[in-house]
Amino acid sequence: MAAKKKEPVVIEGAGPLNAPIGGLLTWVDQRFPLMSIWKDHLSEYYAPKNFNFWYFFGALSLVVLMLQIVTGIFLVMHYKPSAAEAFASVEYIMRDVPGGWLIRYLHSTGASAFFVVVYLHMFRGLMYGSYRAPRELIWIFGMIIYLCLMAEAFFGYLLPWGQMSYWGAQVIVNLFDALPIIGPDLSTWIRGDFVVSDATLNRFFAFHVIAIPMALLGLVAAHILALHEVGSNNPDGVEIKAKLDDKGHPLDGIPFHPYYTIKDIFGLSVFATVFSVILFFLPEMGGYFLEYNNFIPADPLKTPTHIAPVWYFTPFYSILRATTEDFMWALRVGVVAYAGLILFTSRGCLSKILTLLLAPVILLAMGVIEAKVWGVVLMGVSTLIFFLMPWLDKSPVRSIRYKGRLSHIALTIFVIVFLTLGFYGTQPVTAAGTLISQIGTLIYFSFFLLMPWYTQMETTHPVPDRVTS
Ligand code: HEM
Repeated sequence: MAAKKKEPVVIEGAGPLNAPIGGLLTWVDQRFPLMSIWKDHLSEYYAPKNFNFWYFFGALSLVVLMLQIVTGIFLVMHYKPSAAEAFASVEYIMRDVPGGWLIRYLHSTGASAFFVVVYLHMFRGLMYGSYRAPRELIWIFGMIIYLCLMAEAFFGYLLPWGQMSYWGAQVIVNLFDALPIIGPDLSTWIRGDFVVSDATLNRFFAFHVIAIPMALLGLVAAHILALHEVGSNNPDGVEIKAKLDDKGHPLDGIPFHPYYTIKDIFGLSVFATVFSVILFFLPEMGGYFLEYNNFIPADPLKTPTHIAPVWYFTPFYSILRATTEDFMWALRVGVVAYAGLILFTSRGCLSKILTLLLAPVILLAMGVIEAKVWGVVLMGVSTLIFFLMPWLDKSPVRSIRYKGRLSHIALTIFVIVFLTLGFYGTQPVTAAGTLISQIGTLIYFSFFLLMPWYTQMETTHPVPDRVTS
């Protein structure tokens, strides 16, 4: 059957270039859906007209992802993934490879920048309720990306084979030891040895340079496809597709290209300025981006006195360290109180039955399984709980702009607690630090677990019909 002939591509305003470029594009377009991809995702993708600066961080995450991939390729050209040579090869990159120091600092600063922009991107989602229906899948893809990003950063951190690389990996892999029955075998299997060694470095390298970047690229594509299927949310949380003009375009929408491509270039230039200042003047960021102990080669016989992960993991690390035997009592009280809350306030029969079945099992398990294991469980749950956001938020409105006082207070306290936990996670253990982390842990989980109640109890503000500028 003859293929349907496509119209020649016309590039508006291209002048004399129109004929050759238009001709080439028509040729390509008859063989590949280039123009329809361009139209669907850029020139005819209608985005709400009221995006503010919070909407820079998705595009910036994309840019940093590309930066990490490109600089990573150049690093791999000189890096040696072996326990005997890794540390020296990084020093060689820093001192002898032309421009090597720049590539390495771009990559190490890029890793922290990635988490800065992704955390801000996630916070924007929390503020404007971007996880709410029909955008649950965008959020879920985003969360899987976030988990992959954590794995990517963890695997990458072992590669320079410094003291922190070595002992950081040792501590985290040893966490699996705490799991009942399979724990010790599992951690040996992950390391490929009884301690972190050359075999561990090799497999972490494989995951860091191939497996996870490929997964990330696929997931980011899925994330953006899901977004473009349902359309972007906006600071008002108003569905722009509900009001269309006579051409069927949203009344409150503007084409992504050129409006937001230009705006994002502005955001990118501000980001690039801040990034360059850090890159050229503060690449170690006082030990937060590159820890001082990591300038010492890994020594399996000498444990550093204070081992802390890089800043982006420390809120969760604090939760792990906060879970002591004493703290288990506070957790038990928390479980009983939460079960009581469900039993007395829930109207659903199923939730009551589940609570009556699960609460005693959890309490029993808390008596039998040691606190160390619960620390690992809580640390895992503290990241995974974000997946539940679309179902925990029961507010009749989407955006924080129209939510009531309780949601404002809860989100503000959550941010303060997240930062506090992050800070204490970087510090050596002290009695006061542990107590603050324990209180922080309780508040952290309350933000999520009490959300179905406080989002329904509060008085919300009326949502406008159309977006506000
Ligand atoms: C490599 C990491 C990521 C990249 C490259 C990325 C990219 C993007 C881009 C380009 C957009 C559209 C522009 C914008 O709304 O800012 C977007 C939207 C969105 N992203 Fe991400 N993202 C990443 C990670 C995440 C994570 C970790 C989450 C949350 C768990 C997330 C949740 C969302 C949501 C909910 C939207 C829709 C926002 C709205 O319509 O208001 N993303 N993302």
